[in-house]
Amino acid sequence: MSPVWQVDVITTFPESFGGFLDVSLLGKARAAGTVDVRIHNLRDWAEPPHRVTDDYAYGGGPGMVLKAEPIVAAVEELRGSDGRVVLLTPQGEPLTQARVSALAARPHVILICGRYEGVDERVRTLVVDEEISVGDYVLSGGEVAAMVVIDAAARLVPGVVGDAASLVGESHAEGRLSHPQFTRPEELRGQRVPPVLLSGHHARIERWRRAQALHRTQRRRADLLEGRELSAEERQLMAEFPPCETEAPGS
Ligand code: ADE
Repeated sequence: MSPVWQVDVITTFPESFGGFLDVSLLGKARAAGTVDVRIHNLRDWAEPPHRVTDDYAYGGGPGMVLKAEPIVAAVEELRGSDGRVVLLTPQGEPLTQARVSALAARPHVILICGRYEGVDERVRTLVVDEEISVGDYVLSGGEVAAMVVIDAAARLVPGVVGDAASLVGESHAEGRLSHPQFTRPEELRGQRVPPVLLSGHHARIERWRRAQALHRTQRRRADLLEGRELSAEERQLMAEFPPCETEAPGS
């Protein structure tokens, strides 16, 4: 039996997840039982008969705040002995491949989707282990952010991506961007595929790809290389293979 990654999502908009769960890698992984995603409606833990999940903010101000009691009750019911509780919020730690990888290595993750002006602070202090933001912008709720986490982590669960070798050189897997990719045709509107890729010299192609990955990272995301010196071999590779001509100007 392949390992199972279990995710419980607590949300006030369960319908947001329709479609997303059923397609592509995630759909297949769920069908195979490798990844188990359960979507829960927060209202199920809210006080009957009205099952209200939000309320006005103490101290005044616009907008509503998600109440603490239903979230705490949901987490306490779902967490079990091994649940890692994550709150999706624009105030969280930025999501990186390293964080994704750490979550994929946990057997059981509980994702709480924030909404409105925020979540009662006591949710954080009482049940949350980790707060994650998917970027410095504000979404209307944590649902899309939860999908980002699930999508990025599920593909790292062993058995989900059929050919695990394809995870090795991809962008962010090794703290740098990936190299440019080409497929047919060999020439498009005057732009040719770099000849080395047609040469059949596998070692040379590998060296070209590493050089392009480094050029691209240096040009686009120099921050990823900060705190790490390029080795003499990497500098030599970059000198031997200049940036690929199809690199967009100014990038
Ligand atoms: N909820 C609203 N905005 C968010 C963000 N940027 N990341 C995670 N959750 C959010």
